[in-house]
Amino acid sequence: MTDLLLLPGDGIGPEVTAQVRRVAEALTPALTLEERPFGGISYDQLGTPLADETLAAAKAAKAVLMGAVGGPQWAGVPRDKRPEAGLLALRAGMNVFANLRPALCFQPLADASTLKREVVEGLDLMIVRELTGGVYFGSPRFIEDLPGGGKRAVDTQVYTTAEIERVSRVAFELARGRRNKVASAEKSNVMDSGLLWREVVTDLHKRDYADVELTHILADNAAMQIVKDPKQFDVLLTDNLFGDILSDAAAQLTGSLGMLPSAALGVAGTPGLYEPIHGSAPDIAGKGVANPLAAILSFEMALRWSLGRAAEADKLYAAVNAALEKGARTRDLGGSLSTVQMGDAVLAEL
Ligand code: NAD
Ligand code: IPM
Ligand code: MN
Repeated sequence: MTDLLLLPGDGIGPEVTAQVRRVAEALTPALTLEERPFGGISYDQLGTPLADETLAAAKAAKAVLMGAVGGPQWAGVPRDKRPEAGLLALRAGMNVFANLRPALCFQPLADASTLKREVVEGLDLMIVRELTGGVYFGSPRFIEDLPGGGKRAVDTQVYTTAEIERVSRVAFELARGRRNKVASAEKSNVMDSGLLWREVVTDLHKRDYADVELTHILADNAAMQIVKDPKQFDVLLTDNLFGDILSDAAAQLTGSLGMLPSAALGVAGTPGLYEPIHGSAPDIAGKGVANPLAAILSFEMALRWSLGRAAEADKLYAAVNAALEKGARTRDLGGSLSTVQMGDAVLAEL
């Protein structure tokens, strides 16, 4: 059985994933690694962004680590064959409905954010994003021609009680091991799915998690509060689309989009999907300057959540912190290290 399936993907994906491989080989040499094409490169080679064998291999591994997918070269590909469609199919196929996106401000990076030090210093925010439902997966969805000219496009935002409840449970459970606070963000003021979201979270809280402090916040206000005073939040629970947007905003609090890892988890005992939250970064792809820390920290999450190696995870986290402490910075963090040199810096601390 493969322990870790690597899906490097496109753009900077292979560059950052290569650093994960180096770290894994040094820190956990006993782990078995496997690598497969995924995303745009898979479409080019196999005619599909997610081959059946790749999904089967993902489900059979203990954990999957994805680099990034997508890029302008696949802009003209039909939507269901695009690299991003492969990623959605992978998330759905693995049934990883709870996406943990921790926005942590490493102490040495408190001045690297575009926000003021006092706003971000000590930040430890956990976004829990619903990952296999909502407008990303709702039907109908289509673009149609209108008789009088022009077109009409439809996407459907849809959530069931069960979908909201299972991800909310993850958020409440996480909160209990942290500062015991959950803020649930939706748009119940304008959307029926938001109304149901608020109702289900409220009921579940009353039934099973009354000891956790729960607040409800409208998603637009949540975006403003994240840049105004992010430390007011502990766990921020939200749907698929809002979670996508709010987590990019939160990433910048940590200094760079290149710092934010994620773990997508499903039912206990099934493999998790680990991915940096950034994309394929076509503007810097191939230049060897991408920050590999979001990918390396995604591996750290895999060690913790899927591979049963919390001690090694702690070691890796400490190594990243120590490298930053000594001034290791890629360009996005205001430094000049290459991707490989940042990998070297972490390896040196290990
Ligand atoms: P992006 O995240 O790729 O890039 C946004 C900006 O952040 C760019 O300026 C980029 O250079 C910078 N950046 C991102 N990661 C970085 C890193 N590790 N180090 C340094 N700088 C980094 O978002 P985008 O440009 O909107 O999207 C590009 C492509 O990636 C699109 O095709 C999109 O669909 C795809 N995408 C994929 C994923 C994923 O695979 N999980 C996530 C987001 C976007
Ligand atoms: C992310 C990405 C993906 C998303 C895209 C590439 C499908 O932006 O993981 O944040 O929207 O979920
Ligand atoms: Mn995103």
